[in-house]
Amino acid sequence: MVEHHGSQCGFCTPGIVLSLAGLYENSQSSDKAIDRESVCDAISGNLCRCTGYRPIIDAGLDMVRTAKDAQFIELMSKNDNIKSQLLAFKEVEKPASLSNQSYLQPMTLAELLQVKTAHLDAIMIAGGTDLMLENTQRFHDFGTLIDVSHVAELKQIQCNGTTLTLGASVTYSELEHFSKTRYPHIYNLLSRIASRQIRNRGTIGGNVANASPIADLPPLLLAFDADMQLVKTDGSKRVVNINDFYQGYKTTVLAKERGKDELIASFDLALSKLEQFHRFYKVSKRMEDDISSVLLAVRFELSDDKISDVRFAFGGMAATPIRAKNAEQSLVGKNINDEQALTQAIENLRRELTPLSDMRASSRYRLDMACNLIKKAWLELNGTQVPTFSGHALSESMLSLGNEITGQEGATHA
Ligand code: FES
Repeated sequence: MVEHHGSQCGFCTPGIVLSLAGLYENSQSSDKAIDRESVCDAISGNLCRCTGYRPIIDAGLDMVRTAKDAQFIELMSKNDNIKSQLLAFKEVEKPASLSNQSYLQPMTLAELLQVKTAHLDAIMIAGGTDLMLENTQRFHDFGTLIDVSHVAELKQIQCNGTTLTLGASVTYSELEHFSKTRYPHIYNLLSRIASRQIRNRGTIGGNVANASPIADLPPLLLAFDADMQLVKTDGSKRVVNINDFYQGYKTTVLAKERGKDELIASFDLALSKLEQFHRFYKVSKRMEDDISSVLLAVRFELSDDKISDVRFAFGGMAATPIRAKNAEQSLVGKNINDEQALTQAIENLRRELTPLSDMRASSRYRLDMACNLIKKAWLELNGTQVPTFSGHALSESMLSLGNEITGQEGATHA
């Protein structure tokens, strides 16, 4: 970072150095080459306001050489003293102010229900990417926390021939890894959610249960009509379709009754629906580490040249994740290239959704964008390629590559 002038105020630097060190360590154990894509992915959760990313990316690309540099090795060896001090660290007694707090980590569903029964007021935590804001921003103390992120039954990703089951504690990164070759459109959406660090922590169940209207996974699950397996503390189970899950802003059908409160165990998606035409479009101000202004998840079911079923599921367009059912109905039974039906769908969409204005986007922008996204999906269904900027491709095209200007014609400094 020093050699490549990758730091100015240094505010972002510790996070970037740790992210790059993590990438380096992982590459050593997996023999995976470090390339521009992996460097951008690794630092995507660290926003730098002053240096500019090109020197930082250069530093990341130069890590392998630096790690073998004799001077660097000597410098690191001087840190042995710090290392031994860290290893000698002993657990300290909890301060009195934390004495009412405990953290429980069950490993099976049976253990989870057992500890929940024993600690009826305990709060469940998975990745903590939303819950911990209550602590850092509102100074809320949680008392007892039950960590569901290691519960085996909640971690499964399983195909049983007709159904794909995704455990509620499956992280974004795990789903990203699973879908990379099988479901590239799901993979592309996941690579646009937050940053690598958050995707390593955040879970599908947490994203759905948190019930944020701008969460990215609920529209995806709505597009596939996912069935949710819910389990109560007393062990009783029920299935709720995600279409019936959200009741209003930040409210769901999850039972809250003491001793009988519910958790999400898993999501079942029909493989037949996953095979149908589907797309996800996320609109946000920044490519990395940003919250959606609008997100559309779309699925078309076709029968010959006709559309036999449609899902238009939105995030950011109402108080809950929501389907535009009137817009959907305008296309059902119509030929896939029926432009009048598309116009009708867009008109119906304008009438049925009234999004809010906030700091991310105005109501009008959201509505215009939602209409355009429906049109984009319809065009893609009909074989027209509509450019989508995703991943790091856009930032690369806008970034100086730092090539020297030689004065010769054709010298590149874009
Ligand atoms: Fe200042 Fe990155 S060096 S924010």
